[in-house]
Amino acid sequence: MSHQVRAVVARGKGAPVSLETIVVPDPGPGEALVRIEACGVCHTDLHYREGGINDDFPFLLGHEAAGVVESVGEGVTDVAPGDFVILNWRAVCGHCRACLRGRPWYCFDTHNAKQKMTLLDGTELAPALGIGAFAEKTLVAAGQCTKVDRTASAAAAGLLGCGVMAGIGAAINTGNVGRGDTVAVIGCGGVGAAAIAGANLAGAAKVIAVDIDDRKLATAGKLGATHTVNSKETDAVEAIRELTGGFGADVVIEAVGRPETYQQAFYARDLAGTVVLVGVPTPEMKLELPLLDVFGRGGALKSSWYGDCLPSRDFPMLIDLYLQGRLDLDAFVTETIALDEVEKAFERMHHGDVLRSVVVL
Ligand code: APR
Ligand code: ZN
Ligand code: ZN
Repeated sequence: MSHQVRAVVARGKGAPVSLETIVVPDPGPGEALVRIEACGVCHTDLHYREGGINDDFPFLLGHEAAGVVESVGEGVTDVAPGDFVILNWRAVCGHCRACLRGRPWYCFDTHNAKQKMTLLDGTELAPALGIGAFAEKTLVAAGQCTKVDRTASAAAAGLLGCGVMAGIGAAINTGNVGRGDTVAVIGCGGVGAAAIAGANLAGAAKVIAVDIDDRKLATAGKLGATHTVNSKETDAVEAIRELTGGFGADVVIEAVGRPETYQQAFYARDLAGTVVLVGVPTPEMKLELPLLDVFGRGGALKSSWYGDCLPSRDFPMLIDLYLQGRLDLDAFVTETIALDEVEKAFERMHHGDVLRSVVVL
């Protein structure tokens, strides 16, 4: 059997997305069919639409989602119909060199659903990040589903599936922020704002938010930034040093993805401090640093892939903290919209008006 559902499809490079009827197969072995309740609009969806990721049009967009498992295929035991789940980009394999060493968050052989979802004429769809959740239902590998507390709002929960998890994880997993640390976050969009919330959650003594947009700095304050710096008006490195006794922060998180801001992060940290790069650069970007400074300043220069998260460990934990009022995921939901308003949401995102627009079904 298969299911015909409404979904948001990007048919060609730069063309506005369209609402279409797609065909979703019943789950095969190891797969799960999920009825989507909410899905956030992310920059990556726009990158797909613009052909910036690859040319595998048509794309089924949407990947920051939560929903309810409707049915599962043969051999699926970790989730069952009726489970409220957050979707993640990739199911871990359990037997690659990373998995075998007990580091499944680095799994080098992840997978998605094997069967293809299609347009009505049979054209195969490429689901964004292996999910495709601007749809009433989607098909994923069962390992992409993590069960969490049903009482959480779907709009807030789904955000853990991508940008918000990347930011929180950059602070708590990659940066290892601990009680009493000083932290600076450069770039306070959805990812940076989440890094601020994560640093706050981890017990940072000072969280310095840096951005060139005062609207983003205002939100950063609400999420726990103790100080804000507009780096259009003030030198970011000097400001961060000044706020940390002249030394620099223990952990600096770069959530823009540009060489200039990376350089700021590099010099705004204390000796033996940590830089975490969670912003995603583009292929032509290059970084130049005196090698002596790399050596002499010590510490760690790290990249954070998807917040180095392990969904089975991090999603239920963060949802519990959210339900206890210790992590304000609702603050990331600027607006909720309908399935046919994704194109409008792209525009608002482009203008920097929102942290997240979330499609609620
Ligand atoms: N200095 C400081 N902040 C900057 C600068 C700069 N030179 N340039 C841009 N910013 C700020 C923007 O004002 C914005 O608030 O960085 C923020 C980027 O936020 P978003 O565009 O909302 O992006 P976000 O979803 O947070 O993702 C950030 O992480 O996942 C990656 O691809 C994503 O590279 C992107 C980064
Ligand atoms: Zn995303
Ligand atoms: Zn693996």
